[in-house]
Amino acid sequence: MQALKYPFLDLATVNAPYFDEIRAAVERVITSGRYIGGSEISTFEAALAVVAGTRFAVGVSNGLDALRLIFRAYIELGRLQPGDGVIVPDNTYIASALAVSDAGLVPVLADVSVETLNLDTAVLESIYTPSVKAVLTVHLYGRPCYDAALADFIKTHKLLLIEDNAQAIGAETADGRPTGSLGDAAAFSFYPTKNIGALGDAGAVTTSDPELEKTIRALANYGSDVRYHNIYKGYNCRLDPVQAAVLNVKLPYLRRENRRRREIAAVYDAEIHSPYVRKPLMTRPDLCVWHQYCIITPQRDGLQAYLAENGVATDINYPVPVHLQPCYGEYAGLSLPRASEIARQILCLPVSACTSPGDAAAISKIINSYEP
Ligand SMILES: Cc1ncc(COP(=O)(O)O)c(C=O)c1O
Repeated sequence: MQALKYPFLDLATVNAPYFDEIRAAVERVITSGRYIGGSEISTFEAALAVVAGTRFAVGVSNGLDALRLIFRAYIELGRLQPGDGVIVPDNTYIASALAVSDAGLVPVLADVSVETLNLDTAVLESIYTPSVKAVLTVHLYGRPCYDAALADFIKTHKLLLIEDNAQAIGAETADGRPTGSLGDAAAFSFYPTKNIGALGDAGAVTTSDPELEKTIRALANYGSDVRYHNIYKGYNCRLDPVQAAVLNVKLPYLRRENRRRREIAAVYDAEIHSPYVRKPLMTRPDLCVWHQYCIITPQRDGLQAYLAENGVATDINYPVPVHLQPCYGEYAGLSLPRASEIARQILCLPVSACTSPGDAAAISKIINSYEP
């Protein structure tokens, strides 16, 4: 297939400005002879803890494992029991729900807001039951999902708050608190397409709880506290030092990467005027890191085809909400109308380092010229 004039994302282009630094960093790992653990990982963990505003960061194998380790660690620590409910937004990447199920916990799927596309914090009380012990808030599309209603709900019912921060590194709340520090623990993903992406799988957990940090470190390393001594039936979920070295190159550019995304989002905000399209509603677009710029349109499939005909690649994140995924057949009877509608109407526009503000203006014009 011929490449479109406006690609959605081209990872070689994204990484091109870092090429020389990445090559030097990878060479450093090769010549160090240290291929598991080591200083690239501890350096990265220290830098990420600063970004997240937490006491600790633990590098792990990927974002799903970061979430799995958090839930498993809370079970080992007796803070959660198998069978406990964890509220999860229905519009999210499947990994959010999988991590909950994997730990023997029960996803309690919540409908999402048509405005934020994230967890609708207004429904929390209505879905609460005494078996609910935690909320997994997902900062989807780079948009912080945290407000007074969520904070009150957590406090009233003494729940754990876990953040899925896979898409929102560098985002913050209106009072300047970084995502990743808002709850008890947070999961990060450095999957190559993320705002800061590795050259393969990578992830991290952030927390300010020393007990949780220790438990996660052990669980991620076969459940071992000291060598050949295993206190848990653990996993191998360690961060690869080559990926840590790549991330040590890229993390210092987080602000630049996110600023670029904000610039493009601002162009779309200013330039898209189609009556068939609803743009993201945000009072503070500067707090969002725009992992995706998503529009909502009842004409989604027609507009997507029209954009492709005019050289614009788009993506749909996500076409199927969690409760309609075949692997979650037990939820198929649930009515989560807003998540279902969003899945039918959402369309993600190019917003990465491959897109210039001029491209975003041209793409907006094409959107404005669309007639169903
Ligand atoms: C919201 C969300 N949660 C979790 C994950 C899982 O991260 P990973 O792909 O690194 O396992 C991703 C990304 O893929 C994600 O977008």
